[in-house]
Amino acid sequence: MVVVSVLLAVGACSKEVSFPDASEGDVKRIQEKFPEASLDKLQKGKALYLANCGSCHRLYAPSSKLDDYWESIVPPMADKARISEEEEALILQYLIAKSKPE
Ligand code: HEC
Repeated sequence: MVVVSVLLAVGACSKEVSFPDASEGDVKRIQEKFPEASLDKLQKGKALYLANCGSCHRLYAPSSKLDDYWESIVPPMADKARISEEEEALILQYLIAKSKPE
């Protein structure tokens, strides 16, 4: 039964990149870089990413890029998306929380 539901879940998402939620562990890890990070902010960052970053191209999986890459691409993309600096910061924190491990 577990196997069946896992297969169904994978099947349902097969056309989409998966966008994981951040965990408390992610919060602790990124607090070295972003002391003000919280689970609530990472959830907002995820929602902002989904809402603002997929209109011109597909949404890239957070885990497809390293931290440094996200840090360099998010500022110019935030300009394109015409979002505030606060929204940009939340999106960057979410992407870094779920980025490709070094
Ligand atoms: C107004 C359209 C537009 C919006 C909105 C937009 N992008 Fe982009 N994005 C582009 C274009 C055009 C390119 C490719 C050329 C370039 O790099 O400027 C691109 C390229 C990228 C790439 C590089 C893909 C690769 O080949 O590695 C990433 C990653 C990316 N965007 C992330 C984001 C994120 C994160 C956001 C939200 C903050 C965002 N984009 C919002 C237009 C947009």
